[in-house]
Amino acid sequence: MTSTILVTGGLGYIGSHTAVELMERGFDVVILDNLSNSSESVLGGIEKITGKKPKTYIGDIRDREMLQTIFKTDHIDSVMHFAGLKAVGEGEEKPLLYLDNNVTGSITLFDAIMKAEVKRVIFSSSATVYGESDTFKYTEDMPLNPINVYGKTKLKVEEILRELKKTNPTLGIAILRYFNPVGAHPSGYIGENPKGTPNNLMPYIADVAMGIREKLFIFGDDYPTPDGTGLRDYIHVKDLALGHIAALNKLEAHTDLITVNLGTGKPFSVLDLTQVFEVVSGKKIPYEVVSRRKGDVAGCFADPTLAKELLRWEALSDINAMCKDIWRWQQNKINIIR
Ligand code: NAD
Ligand code: UD1
Repeated sequence: MTSTILVTGGLGYIGSHTAVELMERGFDVVILDNLSNSSESVLGGIEKITGKKPKTYIGDIRDREMLQTIFKTDHIDSVMHFAGLKAVGEGEEKPLLYLDNNVTGSITLFDAIMKAEVKRVIFSSSATVYGESDTFKYTEDMPLNPINVYGKTKLKVEEILRELKKTNPTLGIAILRYFNPVGAHPSGYIGENPKGTPNNLMPYIADVAMGIREKLFIFGDDYPTPDGTGLRDYIHVKDLALGHIAALNKLEAHTDLITVNLGTGKPFSVLDLTQVFEVVSGKKIPYEVVSRRKGDVAGCFADPTLAKELLRWEALSDINAMCKDIWRWQQNKINIIR
C-alpha cells in the first residue's frame, strides 16, 4: 500500500524539494502551507518536475479544525514537519511570533498527530541548537545552547518530541539537524526565493552575480580560520531531501527516536564560496569586508558519521554542483515565480 506523507511547509524551500523526491519514489504527498514565506506558484514547479500536483491545503499548522480534516480525509502515515519561521533577526524582534508559530504550531500539530495515530514524525531542526565548539565540528551529543530566539524554538520542539516519545513508544521520531542548505533542484524549476534582501550568503552572492546587488559584504576576515572568513558546511538541498527519505526508511524499520546531523562534514569559507561562484557563473563578485555580524560563529560543520551509520545516507553533491544549480535557478526564477 502507498504511504501518504503530510509535508507541512511543503511549498517552502526544503519542503518543496523533499516533496519532489517523495513523489518521484511513489509516495502520496499532501502539503499544508500557509504561504507566509512561499507562493502557490511552487506547485507549478513541482508539477513540471514530477508530472503531478500534490494535494495541497492552504492553511496553518495552528488550525486544529483544518488538521482534523486532513488527518480524517487523507489517511496520513507519516508527517514531515518543515513549517516554521526561520529568520534569525526577525525572531529577535518578534519573539512571541516565533514562539507561537514554531512552538505552539508544533504542539498543535503533534496533538493532531497523536489523535490520528500517525506512525512517524520527521522534524526540521538546525545546527543552530548547538553551543559554540572550539573545533567547529559538531557531533549530535554535544551540548545544546542556542543563542537566538529562532534556535531556542528549535530546541524547545526537540524537547517536546523527546517527551512525546516517553509516553508514545510506538511513535517513530527523527530530529534532523540541518547545517547550511543551499542549491536548487537541478531542473531549475524550484529553488529558494527569499523575500527582500537575503540574509544568507548563497542567495546574496547569486543576487550580486545577477547584478541585482552591487557587491557582497563579507562579515569579518579576522576569524581564526585559514583565510579569516567564516567556515560553514553547505549542503545541497537535494541531498538534504534525500536525508529525509533515508530517515523515513529508518523509522519504517524501527520505531526509534533518532537525532541526526545532516551536513557534508566539509567546511568552506566565505571566500571559497565566492570564488567557486565566480567560476560557475562567469561573473565577477565584487566584495567589501565589513565588521563581523552579531551572533556569528567562526566555524560550524557537521560530523556526518552518525547519518552514515544510522541512515546509510551521505551528501553526494559538491560545492560546484550547489553553485551551478543555484545559478540556473537564479536565472530561471523570474519566469517561474509570478
Ligand atoms: P521556508 O520558509 O522556505 O519554508 C517554510 C514553509 O513553511 C514556508 O512555505 C511557509 O509559508 C510555511 N509556514 C511557516 N509557518 C507556517 C504555519 N504556521 N503553518 C503552515 N505553514 C507555515 O524555509 P525552509 O528553508 O524550507 O525551512 C524549512 C524548515 O527547516 C524550517 O522549519 C526551518 O526552520 C528549518 N531549517 C532551515 C534551514 C535553512 O537554512 N533553510 C536550516 C535549518 C533548519
Ligand atoms: C544562518 C543563521 C542560522 C540558520 C542558517 C540557515 C545567523 C546568525 N545564523 O546561519 O541560524 O540556521 O542561517 O538559514 O543568522 N556572510 C557574509 N555576508 C553575507 C551573508 C553571510 O559574509 O551577506 C557570512 C556569514 O558571516 C557566515 C557565512 O557567510 O560566515 C554563512 O552565513 P549564512 O548563510 O547567513 O548562514 P549562517 O550564519 O551559518
